[in-house]
Amino acid sequence: MNQGEKIIEKTEEFSANNYHPLPLVIAKAEGSWVYDTEGNRYLDMIASYSALNHGHRHPKIIRALKDQADQLTLTSRALHNDQMGAFMEKLCTLSNFDKALPMNSGTEAVETALKAARRWGYEVKKIPKDKAEIIGAKNNFSGRSIGVLSMSTGKSATEGFGPFAPGFVTVPFGDGKAIEQAINENTAAVILEPIQGEGGVVVPPEGYLQEVREITKKHNVLLIIDEIQTGFGRTGKLYCYQHEDIQPDIVTVGKALGGGVYPVSAILADDDVMQVFQPGNHGSTFGGNPLAARIGRVSLEVLMEEGLIERAQELGPYFMEKLKAMNSPVIKDIRGKGLMVGVEIKEEAGTGRDFSEKLMDLGVLAKDTKAQTLRFAPPLNISKEDLDWGIDRMKMVFRG
Ligand SMILES: Cc1ncc(COP(=O)(O)O)c(C=O)c1O
Repeated sequence: MNQGEKIIEKTEEFSANNYHPLPLVIAKAEGSWVYDTEGNRYLDMIASYSALNHGHRHPKIIRALKDQADQLTLTSRALHNDQMGAFMEKLCTLSNFDKALPMNSGTEAVETALKAARRWGYEVKKIPKDKAEIIGAKNNFSGRSIGVLSMSTGKSATEGFGPFAPGFVTVPFGDGKAIEQAINENTAAVILEPIQGEGGVVVPPEGYLQEVREITKKHNVLLIIDEIQTGFGRTGKLYCYQHEDIQPDIVTVGKALGGGVYPVSAILADDDVMQVFQPGNHGSTFGGNPLAARIGRVSLEVLMEEGLIERAQELGPYFMEKLKAMNSPVIKDIRGKGLMVGVEIKEEAGTGRDFSEKLMDLGVLAKDTKAQTLRFAPPLNISKEDLDWGIDRMKMVFRG
């Protein structure tokens, strides 16, 4: 048994079996590359489900982490800290919202958005007590808490975890009319991912978000966009909804906001919505802590200074063209935006998992999202040479 195999054995002995990782133990990483315990290197096109938009161990972000660790790490919100204000300012001004509310994980951000929408529904829209409804899309993924799962339609994520919270309705993704039909006087909000990431990189028809924005405005319903996976340049815009030129009422952000080193999430909204939160009705011990705030602010600085959004804009279409030019007999569909690319494998050729293992053997890491779809989402600062290296290996795997 080599060192990696021993570590896997120990991990499996002592940890819950709630994931099915690739059989690889990573011990070191830099930029777009990770190294296993045996010293083999792999091109990381999983990038921690888009939490590594800045690549592994970005020097400026690591410096911020270390400097802040030497100064102050945690105050809780019982006190102010000298980092949170500047982080909130940076996030709000960049994103064009009045206010932000910091949390830690993506799931918590989504819970926060759902709570904001319900409270807005009661206080502002005057929905009768406990009658608020929120409309989500089928095949969504926004986390794994009981609240978030209450709008989930995925059997593997929900089975055995009921009963769920009432007040959620789901409609087919990509269908604006279905949303309008589901709206009634008790509807507080519609929540959507602009591209369903975990759902298999599902891109809705062009104009969908615009249509939903018009419908929600017309019926006095909030529009929540979950940018946890698609945000911070991943699709070639700061936020994916900007491809359709809309302004949502609430945006949830996470993953890459932590610069690949720390969990940092938030919701963004204007004053009319954010004022529903008052002392005592929502919070988090760690949300907005000085370490998170420093890392969050610097991660946003790096995103802008290094033109990472533009990188995704340039490299995404290049990558998709190269994939299409392979004319692969095993590929059923190629879809995505920017550097968020889904490759659907024909069922007769094998599963997404089979292909992720074949790619791993050649040094490229990509993970299946739904049974047949592989998601490629490398760090946004991947070099063209490294991307080409990965594409050459994909050619070997996808030639059939
Ligand atoms: C769109 C979306 N929302 C929310 C989440 C949940 O984030 P977290 O795993 O940080 O709780 C995810 C995670 O994959 C996601 O893709």
